Amino acid sequence: MEGLSYRSIADYTKAKEQASAQPEVFWENIANQFEWYEKWDKVLEYDFHTPKVSWFLGGKLNITENCLDRHLKTQPDKTAIIFEPNDPNDAAQHISYSELHSRVCRAANMLKANGAKKGDRICIYMPMTPELAIAVLACARIGAIHSVVFAGFSATALAARINDAECSILLTADGGFRGAKVTPLKDIADEALTSCPSINNCIVLKRTGQDVSWNNMDLWWHEELEKVNDNCPAEVMDSEDPLFILYTSGSTGKPKGMVHSCGGYMVYTAYSFQNVFQYQKGDVYWCTADIGWITGHSYIVYGPLAVGATTVMFEGVPSYPDYGRFWEVCAKHKVNQFYTAPTAIRALQKHPVELVNKHDLSSLKVLGSVGEPINAEAWHWYDKHVGKHNCPIVDTWWQTETGGILITSLAGVTPQKPTYATLPMPGVQVVLLDNEGNEIEGETEGILAIKHPWPSIARTIWGDHERYKNVYFSAYPGYYFPGDGALRDAEGNFRITGRVDDVVIVSGHNLGTAPIENALNAHESVVESAVVGFPHDVKGNALHAFVIPNAKVESNKLTDELRALVSKTIGPIAKPDRIQVVSGLPKTRSGKIMRRILRKLASGEYDQLGDVSTLLNPEIIEEIKRNS
Ligand code: WT7
Repeated sequence: MEGLSYRSIADYTKAKEQASAQPEVFWENIANQFEWYEKWDKVLEYDFHTPKVSWFLGGKLNITENCLDRHLKTQPDKTAIIFEPNDPNDAAQHISYSELHSRVCRAANMLKANGAKKGDRICIYMPMTPELAIAVLACARIGAIHSVVFAGFSATALAARINDAECSILLTADGGFRGAKVTPLKDIADEALTSCPSINNCIVLKRTGQDVSWNNMDLWWHEELEKVNDNCPAEVMDSEDPLFILYTSGSTGKPKGMVHSCGGYMVYTAYSFQNVFQYQKGDVYWCTADIGWITGHSYIVYGPLAVGATTVMFEGVPSYPDYGRFWEVCAKHKVNQFYTAPTAIRALQKHPVELVNKHDLSSLKVLGSVGEPINAEAWHWYDKHVGKHNCPIVDTWWQTETGGILITSLAGVTPQKPTYATLPMPGVQVVLLDNEGNEIEGETEGILAIKHPWPSIARTIWGDHERYKNVYFSAYPGYYFPGDGALRDAEGNFRITGRVDDVVIVSGHNLGTAPIENALNAHESVVESAVVGFPHDVKGNALHAFVIPNAKVESNKLTDELRALVSKTIGPIAKPDRIQVVSGLPKTRSGKIMRRILRKLASGEYDQLGDVSTLLNPEIIEEIKRNS
């Protein structure tokens, strides 16, 4: 994929110029680096008002042909995936491109043998084992639309996602190892499947060997594989056929099933992977995310494999068996590019630096950060102790919806600036808007918006195009609105300041406050609730829930029950750090909860509440302060 790379600032500047002068020629040149069964008739058609975006129209391809088959000609024996298990005493696995190809084809035949066909939705609820990546690719091989649900989600959340997409098959495992814990995935899946009429088969990978109950539609993965061979020609897909659905949290209760399509997603993830991380032949790249999130889809599986890289998949957690595990794994596999989240860095930086220093990190060339703004302290710790002041840090801004990284520096090619994501990728047109939606220039702060489509923009929300339009294209007509605010310095570098809507980024996870409030309100003793974020030194943000109970209840018991309820409805990641029982919430005269004031109260910024005299119930402020 040499043709994809900018190795110098001159290459980069040239690309940027071409991308803005002739965007379609620019993207077409990049798309030409891939294998297509048939080339497109038209590069781009779009209208941000409808909204409708299509790339490489009429082009025919299969992304697995590009991620797998293509490399068999040039590097069949190269390691595609290094699997590092949860337990450091278990052997790592090195899976070559030819082995991966064979295992994907076999798994694809297993799916077909169980009735899967092009366009069907297949839900994947699995731990971070190689079979998770294989499952994703097997779906893509046959044109089935995968919907990966992070293995930390609850039965209720899993069922809601399966039902929204009407999945016909569930792929899961008996259990999953995560640090010292074992997650009973099959039990959770069983509970979910009591309310999922669309599921015909549940195929279960044996990972932990724990006892599981067995139902009519359950099948063992290893037994099903034995019935099929590994010859599975790739399904011919249209560039705009959906490749996958991935759910993300929104500001209403229902998760949004973001739909990504085959052609544009392939082109953009490979292009961005190559340029951001400056991957070179022979390098070992490691992204610590879970494949249950977009980061894992784009930058563990598709992007790296499309360019023929070696990608590490880690089953465990940074704290197990101790807080040096990341660095031990970097040393063990001689990792060259390391990509993680600020929340992990902040957690690790609290532990003795000896846990970093005792490992040989001399292989590292590039460090990456993703998921939330990286604060200066974490940036400098990462730079000094992990990078030894010798590795560029790429702070990559993007979203589930964008499919790939949009604002970042390119490692060693463009300048970095601590706490700044820096510049848009060539081909991405980012602007700042004021509250009225006017573009503002120069050194300023505003609302982040994107003016022109890039190939991996999500095409719709599964089953709800109207919502797609309302959330992303209505607030500022003519632009894509990501929901973040940003400031820009005199050189044009962007610093993301955080969400401007009711979404809170907790430990790098996007959590809408509305679904959490819905969960709290479902408790029989809760009348009303409001959830806001407040700054947290490890998680970036944490959640503070204000809850009005309907009668005199014992507040300790209530808060325990509410935590359990949120965990059960959404998952443990959504549990509020604080639950405060209050007798009222600050409201406007029209009855709207003043979240801005609640955010200040939760953050302890009592002197920044502003004028509260126009509230319907100003007296509530003192009560909230008193019992906080
Ligand atoms: C939201 C998207 C990107 C994949 C993982 C999260 C925040 C993401 C950064 C960054 C500041 C960031 C934004 C964005 N975010 N990366 N480098 N600097 N903020 O994907 O769950 O869809 O969340 O994460 O607020 O909108 P996601």
